[in-house]
Amino acid sequence: MTRNPRRIRTAVIGTGFMGRVHLEALRRTPNVDVVAIAGTSLDKAKALGAGYDIHNASSDWRELMTDPGIDAVHITTPNDSHFPIAKAAFEAAKHVLCEKPLALSVAEARILTQLQAATNLRGALCHNLRYYPMVQQMRAMREAGELGDILVVQGTYSQDWMLYESDWNWRVDPALSGPSRVMADIGSHFFDMAEHVTGLKVRSLCSDWQIFHPTRKRPKTGGETFSGKLAAASESTDAKIETEDFGATLFRLGTRARGAMTASQVSVGRKNGLVMEIYGTKAAVTWRQENPEELWIGHRDAPSQILLKDPALMHETARGWADLPGGHAEGYHDTFKQLFRRFYASIADPDAPADYPQMADGLRQMNILAAELESSRHHAWADVAE
Ligand SMILES: NC(=O)c1ccc[n+]([C@@H]2O[C@H](COP(=O)([O-])OP(=O)(O)OC[C@H]3O[C@@H](n4cnc5c(N)ncnc54)[C@H](O)[C@@H]3O)[C@@H](O)[C@H]2O)c1
Repeated sequence: MTRNPRRIRTAVIGTGFMGRVHLEALRRTPNVDVVAIAGTSLDKAKALGAGYDIHNASSDWRELMTDPGIDAVHITTPNDSHFPIAKAAFEAAKHVLCEKPLALSVAEARILTQLQAATNLRGALCHNLRYYPMVQQMRAMREAGELGDILVVQGTYSQDWMLYESDWNWRVDPALSGPSRVMADIGSHFFDMAEHVTGLKVRSLCSDWQIFHPTRKRPKTGGETFSGKLAAASESTDAKIETEDFGATLFRLGTRARGAMTASQVSVGRKNGLVMEIYGTKAAVTWRQENPEELWIGHRDAPSQILLKDPALMHETARGWADLPGGHAEGYHDTFKQLFRRFYASIADPDAPADYPQMADGLRQMNILAAELESSRHHAWADVAE
């Protein structure tokens, strides 16, 4: 096949929940062709690729690294494989877009950050939730001084898909997920958003974690992400659980602000309940992922407001994240599209700004997570490394 030099050729590694989401968003990203898919099952990779006219399928991601026709890779596999795949990709001179968390440890994240910095390659971390239009509006309001000085940041990331002892997923296994489950998986999105919106850094924290199910029923087959409620009952064995179902973190932001958050996979009724509340000296904002087109704006001496997403009513600096007019909802899928668009624009133009989360942002989240782990183990406050 002849190659169009103006189009970037990319590969998706992983054929699960995120593999499918990335593939769909890539179809809405300009100047990119998905040319290969790799998974653990060749049949699944072939089946997924066939629907998108992608015929290069593999059951071994290493095969992609030696293919000179692939410019970039998307890593959508379980957490344990992010480091080896990203490292191999940078070493093979491929741009990397990696799902969060970047790695299993600070040490691994640091290696990847250094490796990328030593090349001309682009590296993005998929903290896509920043790119809901109303999240960008919160950031733009803070930048414009409309919130005043930030005093309090609070919220939660609550889900219920691991509520029952019979709920299972690879995230439960620390060998695949790392030493933290809930804080690494969804708490990291909360802290990435809190820092991105406020412009402040979490400096120290105190974290309390709980395992509600000391054992879980490990199915002999199945256990796909978010499959619990639809999964047929299957034979299982009892497995000891070592990672948290729930965590609560108090934190200090910048020099003055204070915060509190919880993250949970056992909060019944909550599906993807990320709530971010930011209180400043002039005004407040609250945003809810389960209702993402609305932004609550709080005032003390005037009626509080609800802003429904409408590019015409948004700050100019936030408008670029809203593609559709008011009343035309943009959601979870669109956040990936926004991130990918900027990632590929920065590959096409080496002088373009890297306007998306970097490897260093992944390292940042690993530092916050390391402090949370230390704090929860020692029942004490812990500083977050710079
Ligand atoms: N940004 C987000 O909003 C978001 C949401 C969900 C998950 N994630 C992240 O995406 C990653 C994947 O999560 P998921 O929910 O899609 O999991 P999943 O179980 O649905 O999919 C993982 C896929 O990776 C494949 N896989 C496993 N090991 C592999 C290997 N060595 N080589 C190739 N393929 C391999 C599996 O076969 C499966 O198809 C995780 O790191 C998770 O933290 C991010």
